[in-house]
Parts: sequence; structure tokens; C-alpha cells
Amino acid sequence: MTEMIEVQFGEALQEALSGVLSSPSHRALEIGGPTTYFDELYKWIDQAKGGNIDNVVRPLVDEYEIENFQRRGGVMVEGACAEGGEGGECEEGGMYPYEINGALLGKQYFAHGADLPFEDESYGFIMASHNLEHYPNPLKALLEWDRVLKPGGYMFLNLPDPRYTFDRRREVSDMSQLLKCYNAEAGLSKEDAFQYLVERKIQGILSITAFEQTKGETEKEAEERWRAMVGNGREDDSWVDKFHWHVFDPGLMEEIFKCLGYEVVGMAGVAPFHMMSIAKKNG
Ligand SMILES: C[S@@+](CC[C@H](N)C(=O)[O-])C[C@H]1O[C@@H](n2cnc3c(N)ncnc32)[C@H](O)[C@@H]1O
Repeated sequence: MTEMIEVQFGEALQEALSGVLSSPSHRALEIGGPTTYFDELYKWIDQAKGGNIDNVVRPLVDEYEIENFQRRGGVMVEGACAEGGEGGECEEGGMYPYEINGALLGKQYFAHGADLPFEDESYGFIMASHNLEHYPNPLKALLEWDRVLKPGGYMFLNLPDPRYTFDRRREVSDMSQLLKCYNAEAGLSKEDAFQYLVERKIQGILSITAFEQTKGETEKEAEERWRAMVGNGREDDSWVDKFHWHVFDPGLMEEIFKCLGYEVVGMAGVAPFHMMSIAKKNG
């Protein structure tokens, strides 16, 4: 693993946020929040002046509950939508209050994180925690986040450190794979997506519901049914949101930020399995 630039990460984060907190025109955007272990960060925002951070969450469907994410607490939706149960009463494209611990922090949008309903250069700080790995086409998402980030703004990404998660036996993705997905536009090829499922089934990760045989179905038939369902890993299939499509490490993060033309201002590994980085957009 490439050496991390472990420089006073908390300070870098505070510095990144201070610009947002001190300017009324600099809003912050979270994608795939809220993030409970960032309570402190939400408090800073609330204390500074409430109503300064928006959130974008993808509505979820139960139909393809491949990894049983909800039961494992992988999906956290607060505020108006929580009452409907995992977005049950919320609609794609809808806008709801973004409340955390009773504090109204901003607006919550139900949209795809790689297709944001915002103007160019409209946010001063963008954060996404354990979110980027859920996109088959992460470069597409990153370019979209770059589009809405103001010059001089900060991008704060938290990703699972594969050494401490169920990804530990997987190979770290490289830029050529990410570019391949970007060029394929829809994400992974059908075969790639299927191979991904097979690999994880072998690892025992998809044991909960994946490849489950329905009554009267042979293993082969179940596999064929899954192969058909995989489609081509299209971004608009909501089940796609539940996987870790790619595995990141600090080296890949540095390369990604370099390609975006961003300056990395902090990287840190934080127990138990977080890999955090903050980078600044030129401007
Ligand atoms: C593992 S959870 C992380 C939740 C929280 N940010 C944290 O760090 O604990 C992944 C989150 O990403 C969201 N998500 C997955 N794919 C998404 C997409 N395409 N657009 C927006 N949000 C997405 C899920 O709804 C879920 O809330």
C-alpha cells in the first residue's frame, strides 16, 4: 500500500470546512449521508449557522435486497424520509428536510449521486462517506461532484480500507479499470458484473440471499436467473447501489485526485476501517 500522507487530518478537515462555515454562499453537500460518526462535523455546521449542508441519497427498493443491507444497518436515512422506512415515503427527485439529531441542517434530495440536481460550482465542500465504492462508474460520479464544486472548494472522501473489510481478498482497482468503466458509460460489462457476483459468492460474502435458489429451481437455473438480473451493471438499477464495485487504496486516491487536478491536503487511515482523504480543487 502506498504510504499515506498522514498530516494532521482533523486540522485539514476543519480548515476545509471553515471556508464553508464562514461564507453564507458556501454550502456543503453530502452524498449518501448522514454519517453517524461525523456527528462532530454536523455539530460544527449547526453551531456555525444551521441549514448549511445538503444531502443526496438514492431511494432504495427492497425488491433486490441482495446483501440485505438494510437489516445490517448499511442504509441510514434520517428526517422526513426515515418515517417511511428506508425512503419508503420518499420519491425520486423529491426534496425533504435534512435533519440530524433534531437540528435542521439543510435539504435532503433523493437522486442519483452521479446525476445531481444542482448548478455548476454551487458547493464549497463536498463529502461522501462509504459511497464512491457503490458506483460501478466512480469516475462519472467524481466528475459530477467536481462539476458542482466551486473552484477552491474541498472534496472529502471516506472509503472503506479494504484491509479491514470484506474486500480484504479483492485486488485494489486501478485507473485503467476505472477508465474502462467510464468509457463503457453504463458501468461494468454484463460479464464483469456477473463475475463480480461469482467472486463474492465464492468468498461467502453473498451468502444471505444471493444466488438463492427459489423453490423447484436448480442451482444452475438460479445462476441463470442471477445472470439475467445482473443486466449490464447499469447505474439506473437500484440494486447496483448495494455492492462495493471497486476497491480503493491511498495510491489510487492520489492518482484520482491528480487526474482531477486537485491538491491532496490530507489523508488518514482511521480505525476501524476508514480511509479518509481531503483534496482541494484549483481555483
Ligand atoms: C454504506 S452506506 C454509507 C452511509 C454513511 N454515509 C456512512 O458513512 O455511514 C452507503 C450509502 O450510499 C448511498 N448510495 C449508494 N449508491 C448511491 C447512489 N448511486 N447515489 C446516492 N447515494 C447512494 C446509500 O443509499 C447509502 O446511504
